[in-house]
Parts: sequence; structure tokens; C-alpha cells
Amino acid sequence: MSADPDISGTFALKGRVLTFNQGPDRYDYWEKGCVVIEDGLITAVGDAAGVNSKNHSAVIDYGEDLILPGFIDGHVHYSQMGVIASYGTKLLDWLNTYTFPEEAKFLDPEYAADTARFFLAESVKNGFTTSAVFCTTHPQSVDAYFSVAEERGLRTIAGKVLMNRHGPDELCDTAETAYDQSKSLIEKWHGKGRCLYAVTPRFAPTSTSAQLEAAAALYRESDGVYVQSHVAENVAEIEWVAELFPAAQSYLDIYQRFGLLGERTLYGHGIHFSNADITMAAESGATIVHCPTSNLFLGSGLFEYRKLKAAGVEIALGTDVGGGTSLSPFATVKAAYEIAQFRDTSFSPFEAFYLLTSGGAKALRLEDKIGRIAPGYEADLTILDMNSTDIIRRRLRNADSLSDALFAQIILGDDRAVRAVIANGKPIYEKSGGDSLKEYDR
Ligand code: GUN
Ligand code: ZN
Repeated sequence: MSADPDISGTFALKGRVLTFNQGPDRYDYWEKGCVVIEDGLITAVGDAAGVNSKNHSAVIDYGEDLILPGFIDGHVHYSQMGVIASYGTKLLDWLNTYTFPEEAKFLDPEYAADTARFFLAESVKNGFTTSAVFCTTHPQSVDAYFSVAEERGLRTIAGKVLMNRHGPDELCDTAETAYDQSKSLIEKWHGKGRCLYAVTPRFAPTSTSAQLEAAAALYRESDGVYVQSHVAENVAEIEWVAELFPAAQSYLDIYQRFGLLGERTLYGHGIHFSNADITMAAESGATIVHCPTSNLFLGSGLFEYRKLKAAGVEIALGTDVGGGTSLSPFATVKAAYEIAQFRDTSFSPFEAFYLLTSGGAKALRLEDKIGRIAPGYEADLTILDMNSTDIIRRRLRNADSLSDALFAQIILGDDRAVRAVIANGKPIYEKSGGDSLKEYDR
């Protein structure tokens, strides 16, 4: 393979091609497929015999590798790279002991820029081309993140964390600075290149009512901006929230009352929901982001995927690093599968790859732009080596279907399975012999 980072304009990829349409059971698969990319967009896809790729300046042949839409991480904190794998606490102690001191370091723009570069290199190396990202309360942490994401040509959603109580002074803003700083960050970044802004109140307990009102005003006033936060993750957190907001019916109801539920609102976790909460989430159009490795690591609880899905709730998947333990899409869906096992429900390989691609795009309201390999879609692609380790190769001797081969990747795969990543029609990552990152990852 000769993925040249200078490739621009028109080129074609050959290989196995898999893309989901409206659901996990509705997909197109070409054993010998071809994808044509022109100026950052996909212009044709289909069986290689039927797609004209002759006129293109370059054809990259991936052989038996699998070409998929780039993966989508619906909830992650780039600012918590440094506290991934921190021992021995549940949510509230974990925040106070590890997370808040780490986030305080983002006062330093160089620390923020270095972490943003590292985070995006790792995320891309794992096959993600879009993430919804929490920065810190410091506006410079947002500038640092978007600068690197824009440089890489990534479609991304991110925002400044809002928190004005129950945190260390170094991290607390006010209702006014939260509004003013977010407003100017929206003006600077929302719609710049492929960047999109999310108003990001950390979670209800760290914002006063005045700050939640300011967040809702930003969401109302700014066309197309997102909201992202956390909800119903941990039992002690929920009891605390009930004391802080006694008038609300539930944790989710707080966000509803402040006008923070609707299209383009992304809430991490949603584990401990009543039936009324599930109905509220479905009717409001809010997205719940399932973060399985985090839920296991912090002992938060077992997400009820099947129940929320049956009620019509939009669901995305998130790595939630640093509460989450991995930036791997495989580790994430493996944990989702294991949680579903505890809930006595299925979580099929097609469901997993659907949520990582087209389903995730729909839940992030980006279904007209990313998540599919189809004409007119932005050319974000992840190419998987289906035989990346000896154990996978041996296991695949027994694989009798695409679904089975994909399941083996989920359970056994890691970043060695990611052969290459293309974003906005440009190769941005190619696996080298060892574990090192190529120069254009840095
Ligand atoms: N709730 C409030 N802040 C956080 C955070 O940083 N991570 C997780 N997992 N939950 C939160
Ligand atoms: Zn989180």
C-alpha cells in the first residue's frame, strides 16, 4: 500500500467495503469494492468491476482489508489523557482525587496543545475520525484542541467545560464568564473548517441555576451548536443532585427544566433512568452516550441498551477517557457486549459497527455528512487489517460469516488492526511496522 499523505484531489481505494444505512441490519458490503474520493468527498462506491476508477491519479489497493466509515466517539475528555487508569475510586472521589488536579494543568496553553496533539494522534490511530470532546474550563484548552483538530481536517465537536461550584477554585468560572467565554469560542470555532461547538456544562452539581440558564441561552441563541454533559451515572451522584435541585422530578428533568434537552444535546451515561426519564429522553430528541468501559471501571452500573433503544432513544457510543479505560473502538464495543450479557440482551457485531459509524453519526445529528460510504458523504474512512495478530488469524479459520469475523475483531482486536485512516479525503494515518506514530500523526 502506498498511502501518500500528499494525495489530493481524486483517488480511489480498493478492498472489502462495508457501510451501514438506516440501521444495523441494513448495510452494503462489497467483497471486491471500490471507493472514489474527489476533493474530500466520496463520489462513488460499489463493486470494483462497476465503478470507474481508471481516470484517477492514484488507486490504493487494500486487498482483503476492510474499508469502513471512520469511527465516531460520542463522549471523551481529551484533558483526561493523563489520568486514564487511576486506581481505586468511584465517580465523585475520582473527580476530586485525580481529574480536577489534572484539568487544572490546562491553564498552561502548551500543556493543552501537547495533550491535544497526543490525544488526537491516539484517537486517530484507533480509527476514530470524529469525537465529541470535553476540554476544561480554560478557553485556551478549547483553542488548543480545535487548532489541532482543524489542522488534521477532522470533523469534531468540542467545548469549554462550565463549572462554577463544587470544584477547586482553579477550575471554577462564573455564570457570566461561562457565557462570555463560550460565546466568543462559538464565534471563533463553530463552523470553522469541520469544527462544531458544544456548550459543555460539566454536570448539574457543578453548575448553579444561573450557569445552567446561561448554558441554555447559548444553546438557544447560536445556530446549530450542541450541548454536552453527564447524567445519571452514579448512585451517590444522583442522591447529591436530588439534594441540590429538590424541585426536579429526576436528574434528567433538571436539564429539561432549564431548556437543555433537545436536538444536538449529548448526555453521557444515562445508566440509572426511570421509565419516565427514558420517555423524556426519547421525546426530547436528546442523545444518550453509552460509555461502557467507564461504567465498568468506575463501578457506575450496567447501561440498559435494549430498553432505551426500544423506547426510541438516540444512542451513541463513547470511550469517556479518562473514566474510560481505552481509546479503542474494539475495547469499547467489547465492554458494551459484556454489559449486554449481564442484562441478558444481545449486542451484535453489526449493531456495534453500526453505532461506531452511521448510528453514531445519526445520534450526533451528522447523518447527512459522515458515518456512511456513499456519494456526497465526507470522505472519512478507517481501513481494518482483519488479520492483525496471530490469534485473530487463527480464530478466523473458523469464521463462517462477515458477522463472525467482525465479532472476532471486537473481542480480540486493538490498534494493530487499524491499517490506515483517511479524513476529509486525505490519508492521515498509516500503520507502520512498529507501534510508533508517523510524522503526520504528530
Ligand atoms: N461527571 C462529571 N464530570 C465527569 C467526568 O469528567 N467524567 C465522568 N465519567 N463523569 C463525570
Ligand atoms: Zn465524561
